[in-house]
Amino acid sequence: MTEIIELKDVHVKVQGKDILKGINLKVNKGEVHVIMGPNGAGKSTVLNSIMNHPTYEVTQGEILLDNELSNELDVNEVAQKGIFMCFQSPIEIDGVTMVNFLRTSYNAIKGEEMKMAPFHKLVKEKMKELNMDPSFRTRSVNVGFSGGEKKRSEILQLSIIEPDFALLDELDSGLDVDALKLLSEQILKIKEKTNMGIILVTHHSKILKYLKPDFVHVLKAGQIVEEGGFELVERIEGEGFN
Ligand SMILES: Nc1ncnc2c1ncn2[C@@H]1O[C@H](COP(=O)(O)OP(=O)(O)OP(=O)(O)O)[C@@H](O)[C@H]1O
Ligand SMILES: [Mg+2]
Repeated sequence: MTEIIELKDVHVKVQGKDILKGINLKVNKGEVHVIMGPNGAGKSTVLNSIMNHPTYEVTQGEILLDNELSNELDVNEVAQKGIFMCFQSPIEIDGVTMVNFLRTSYNAIKGEEMKMAPFHKLVKEKMKELNMDPSFRTRSVNVGFSGGEKKRSEILQLSIIEPDFALLDELDSGLDVDALKLLSEQILKIKEKTNMGIILVTHHSKILKYLKPDFVHVLKAGQIVEEGGFELVERIEGEGFN
């Protein structure tokens, strides 16, 4: 369980290169934060660093999950603390079925063994909510999935885990209009139920019409250069980042 994610003057190096240069960000459960900014600004790096992905090295400052430093936890422990990330490019795992993958990750994150029968029931129910064909249960994770189907499979996982915080990296890229609405509504439903906090990275305002952000942060060259509310999104849409 985590109530607050806080980044204090966070500097991150990737492959020997300084990418984040002093990020301050505080996100409480129940809040929706959006990070926007040009390609290569470091948006995905912020999310990966919160997960303590091993490629991302915090060289200064701290990332706190309540009172624990995320860089003293491994990725699984971060997940067990209720932080879940939907990746910009979801990975494919050949030979592992969706349902086995979902069950393994559920058991690992929740620390409890859900029996096969009730788990199948849960997966079926969530797949129905997401308008996914039940045949996806026995397909290898993300292998041969279309771009939109991969995003749907990430939200299926999110729906089953119901984390405290969802880090959503360009969830909207490659989604058709109906899928964008359906997945956004599913996220809002989880948020309503669990008071989940959200950090969303996007390049487009359309998803923000559904997931109304409380805070907007603009990231450029590894630094937050502007913060505000939805009016900032509208300005960026009109004028760009310059
Ligand atoms: N694993 C990695 N190996 C090498 N360089 C990396 C790695 N991850 C990030 N970088 C570099 O860090 C910089 C920031 O990348 P990041 O993915 O955070 O950008 P972004 O803001 O998410 O961009 P986009 O909008 O294109 O997704 C880029 O120059 C990128 O090449
Ligand atoms: Mg990115």
